[in-house]
Amino acid sequence: MMRVTLRQLQTFECVARLLSFSRAAEEMHVSQPTVSKQIKLLQEEIGLPLLDQIGKRLYLTEAGKELYATCGTWLHTWGRFEQTIADMKGVKQGRLAISAVTTTKYFLPRILGPFCQQYPGIDVSLEVLNRNRVLERLATNEDDLYIMGVPPEAAGVIAEPFFENILVVIASADHPLAQRKRIPLKALEKEPFILRESGSGTRLLLENMFKQHKLKLNVRMELGSNEAIKQAVAGGLGISLLSQSTLHLDPSQKEISILNVQGFPVKRDWYVVHHKDKQPSVVAQTFLDYLLDHITLLKPKS
Ligand code: PGA
Repeated sequence: MMRVTLRQLQTFECVARLLSFSRAAEEMHVSQPTVSKQIKLLQEEIGLPLLDQIGKRLYLTEAGKELYATCGTWLHTWGRFEQTIADMKGVKQGRLAISAVTTTKYFLPRILGPFCQQYPGIDVSLEVLNRNRVLERLATNEDDLYIMGVPPEAAGVIAEPFFENILVVIASADHPLAQRKRIPLKALEKEPFILRESGSGTRLLLENMFKQHKLKLNVRMELGSNEAIKQAVAGGLGISLLSQSTLHLDPSQKEISILNVQGFPVKRDWYVVHHKDKQPSVVAQTFLDYLLDHITLLKPKS
């Protein structure tokens, strides 16, 4: 019978996932020698090397890959056990990992604040990334919940709409189209567009919309954030499509106008997504219930 500790397995899972001792040390808030020592003890106990270092890169050996697969299931089961115990004790505590697309940063914090206050024992880790990166994390089962505007079509996930996502076309306040009413979508073909980076959900929505109407997008520029896009639009570099939530409470909004385009604003939804086969942890369920009961918190105060 091997004598392996939970801490060693947690350390190995972290190193194997990040393929880096230093990043694992950072994530676990310990020193790098502590990580190396845990891995060394684990390798000795298992009796086979788990990692190969070639140049600066780390690789998992065959034994390492086996252990990594086992660790995922095992640590998850253990995490659930810890949470069940916490729940039996009547305390909601544990770690809640959420990854959310960039655009949600304009409204998600409004609910996380009060949620954390109500459940001080719940430690929330929020990763804010573009849609493609969130989908990668969903594929590798890294978080409890995933929040995005365009859920994946893959079977095996549950996507629950929870809040409306209103999409608008914006231009600078002095743009000639700013005064026009009922602008046909076709008229936007001539306008230079500022697009989010590839992999962004907002960009996907815009591209799909144009494709659906058999229109061509005239792309002037790609920018990697909603903030940068607003500045570029305000500066007259082109027009763009953004979620209306990116505009609230923004002083630069005076320099931007929402165009009156036929068929707009487009109403979509924000979705909370999780794996069908993965029963949400007690903590994740607590957050889901809170989210659905407190939707009004997401609305900007006007
Ligand atoms: P994005 O995603 O922030 O990556 O553009 C938005 C969305 O999923 O609608």
